[in-house]
Amino acid sequence: MKVDVLLGLQWGDEGKGKITDVLTPEYDIIARFQGGPNAGHTLEFNGMKHVLHTIPSGIFHPDKVNVIGNGVIIDPRILAREIAGLRERGANPEKNLLISKRAHLILPTHRLIDNVTEASKGKSKIGSTLKGIGPAYTDKVARNGLRIGDILLPDFRSRYESLRKDHFRLINSFNPTEDSLLIEGMSFDEYEKRWFEGLDYISDIQLIDSEIYINQSIKAGKRILAEGAQGTMLDIDFGTYPFVTSSSTISAGVCSGLGISPGSVGKVYGVFKAYCTRVGSGPFPTELLDETGGKLRENGKEFGSTTGRPRRCGWIDLPALHYSVMLNGVTDLVMMKSDVMDDFDFIGVCTQYRVGEDLYDFPGYETLNQAIDPVIHQIPGWKSPLHNFTAWDELPESFKQYVRYIEKALNLPISVISVGPGRNQTIVRLV
Ligand code: GDP
Ligand code: IMO
Ligand code: MG
Repeated sequence: MKVDVLLGLQWGDEGKGKITDVLTPEYDIIARFQGGPNAGHTLEFNGMKHVLHTIPSGIFHPDKVNVIGNGVIIDPRILAREIAGLRERGANPEKNLLISKRAHLILPTHRLIDNVTEASKGKSKIGSTLKGIGPAYTDKVARNGLRIGDILLPDFRSRYESLRKDHFRLINSFNPTEDSLLIEGMSFDEYEKRWFEGLDYISDIQLIDSEIYINQSIKAGKRILAEGAQGTMLDIDFGTYPFVTSSSTISAGVCSGLGISPGSVGKVYGVFKAYCTRVGSGPFPTELLDETGGKLRENGKEFGSTTGRPRRCGWIDLPALHYSVMLNGVTDLVMMKSDVMDDFDFIGVCTQYRVGEDLYDFPGYETLNQAIDPVIHQIPGWKSPLHNFTAWDELPESFKQYVRYIEKALNLPISVISVGPGRNQTIVRLV
């Protein structure tokens, strides 16, 4: 069997967690392949809401295996908290969660480096989640990092201390303020203590060579879904650099993040909101700074799942989506949160950018730094609540027209439509 991939086509928070949970019954294994606790994936079912950061969104299905792949980076304190939260909700992650020994660790000092480097950037700060993502991936690439498998080594503590010493040399060179030496409001020593307690707490989770496990599972005919984090426009290579995250968020990242060959990739589900959001700094051509943007934020409860920050909101952006579809080789589209615009008189769709000439595709490297004037096409709203629909045939015709418009523009089928945060508020049109 091939590995299907599900990932975000915009700037993150598209609803990947919800759809992964919905599709999990179709698979045997759900695997995260990149990113870390900067992700916040929200699941809602049976009146319960749960946010996952590092753990794949199939974890509430006890008969499904969930794998944290080698491309993911892990903060043991955050992971331990996630596991404790799952246990409270009746899940048993020690039974159906596996972690790659090659996954890198986020050290407490990585979080301090994130704090001081962001603070030093002033107005040009990235708006990082301050989870230590950039510094931990930097150490991975610089070949200084510690991996989760290293915790089993007898000299782990001394390796940790040596890296911490190097990190503090860097941190002190920034002349840090007292505030930037706090992590989650705690002193460094307090956080570090909890970090080590986290390592102990997760010791009953199985550490594996996940690349071997995944490839053997492919051979054995197991069905695997790779769950992306962040979004294509936050990709380290193709996103709106430098306002991006530090990992490969696109389908290519599945190969390096799980250790599979390109030929093993099957379907690629591209998840997008019927509008668009972004959290943190950086270009956002269709951003609405007016009442309509506020209404999208309010109706869509657009506040970060990880940091609680208000998300920037705007119309759907077809040039950016074209680019994402191209980069990922999307085979199926998944449209989220159309219900947020139920009471809108019209829905705006950005069809092209006006930058001297009209651009229908996402502009290249130079153009992105200029002011971009989005051309907005207005489509009549459906003006009726969508959240109770479960079948395509029953949906209002005006909404179907919106769906067909996007399908035609992107030349791909919208195979899944989500009309509410709940597991059941989903219309699956897979053929
Ligand atoms: P992810 O990071 O891609 O998993 O997305 P997040 O969980 O960060 O953000 C998506 C938010 O939208 C969450 O609060 C979900 O509960 C919610 N959500 C998901 N799908 C829908 C939908 O179709 N309609 C509405 N109204 N909310 C949704
Ligand atoms: P999920 O998986 C939305 C954004 C941050 C910031 C930039 C860099 O829930 O979709 P980082 O912490 O990686 O150094 O932040 O990327 N960002 C996200 N935005 N959803 C996410 O994840 C994000 N992960 C990172 O806001 O602008
Ligand atoms: Mg999120």
